[in-house]
Amino acid sequence: MAATTKRLEGKVALITGAASGVGECTAKLFAAHGAKVVIADIQDQLGQGVCENIGSSNSIYVHCDVTKEEDVKNAVDIAYATYGKLDIMINNAGIMDPYKARVIDNDKTDFERVLSVNVTGVFLGMKHAARVMVPARGGSIISMASTGSIVGGVTTHAYTCAKHAVVGLTKNLAVELGQFGIRVNCLSPSAMATPMATNFLGLYGEDFENKVSSTANLKGVTLTIDDVAKAAFFIASDDAKYISGQNLCIDGGFGIVNPSFNMFQYPDNI
Ligand SMILES: NC(=O)c1ccc[n+]([C@@H]2O[C@H](COP(=O)([O-])OP(=O)(O)OC[C@H]3O[C@@H](n4cnc5c(N)ncnc54)[C@H](O)[C@@H]3O)[C@@H](O)[C@H]2O)c1
Repeated sequence: MAATTKRLEGKVALITGAASGVGECTAKLFAAHGAKVVIADIQDQLGQGVCENIGSSNSIYVHCDVTKEEDVKNAVDIAYATYGKLDIMINNAGIMDPYKARVIDNDKTDFERVLSVNVTGVFLGMKHAARVMVPARGGSIISMASTGSIVGGVTTHAYTCAKHAVVGLTKNLAVELGQFGIRVNCLSPSAMATPMATNFLGLYGEDFENKVSSTANLKGVTLTIDDVAKAAFFIASDDAKYISGQNLCIDGGFGIVNPSFNMFQYPDNI
């Protein structure tokens, strides 16, 4: 790739949950665009594998359970000690709880586990990123929400609640950190094939794609982790220098549709 196309040259990014799925794809894309990347996850072997794939001159792996403040603090400190700064923080690590149709069957421990990773983890990532970004007077914090942050009934109660909370945290932090030139945004993708989503639905390969496309608003295309990584890349880059406090939906319009009226049904022969 030519140097002129490396739009994150000189930037340092820390990505949680980067051993797999969206985080891994984002780490690879950022590194391809010249960023130094800190891969933070609890799946050490997979995370180290991502680093090896990217190359040790551009990336390091750090074990980090986002529910533990000392781990998150340590990951940020390692990023700072290794590369001298932190420009981009991606709070991507996330989990789902098992689907249960009735709230009375939902376990408190599952609920708290999801909130612990998906909300407390994001809060800690924001907090420790801010710790080094405020003195530097700049940075971009991006957190992974979901379509479940804007509509009800598409994910579990805990996950929906957690992703709504990510939007709330994003707005509050965007207000607080704007005075330091720090941008804070989140991304809300709809379903895409990653270990988390395929395991949740119990559908794989074509079955997963068919299920997702049958509920999609935008037909003829399939959302992939690459699309979400590219959205993160845009928000992280200087091209998005005046975008803050936003929840960018990467859902083909899924979140703005109420299909009950089936308003724009074309005849079959069109
Ligand atoms: N796949 C989808 O359909 C979808 C849709 C919308 C939003 N998201 C969000 O995207 C993000 C990434 O998920 P994914 O789909 O790539 O799933 P994934 O399972 O492939 O990746 C999640 C990563 O987070 C890591 N992780 C889990 N708990 C952790 C913890 N306590 N500390 C650190 N790391 C931890 C896992 O080890 C894994 O590597 C999540 O926040 C998820 O909620 C996914």
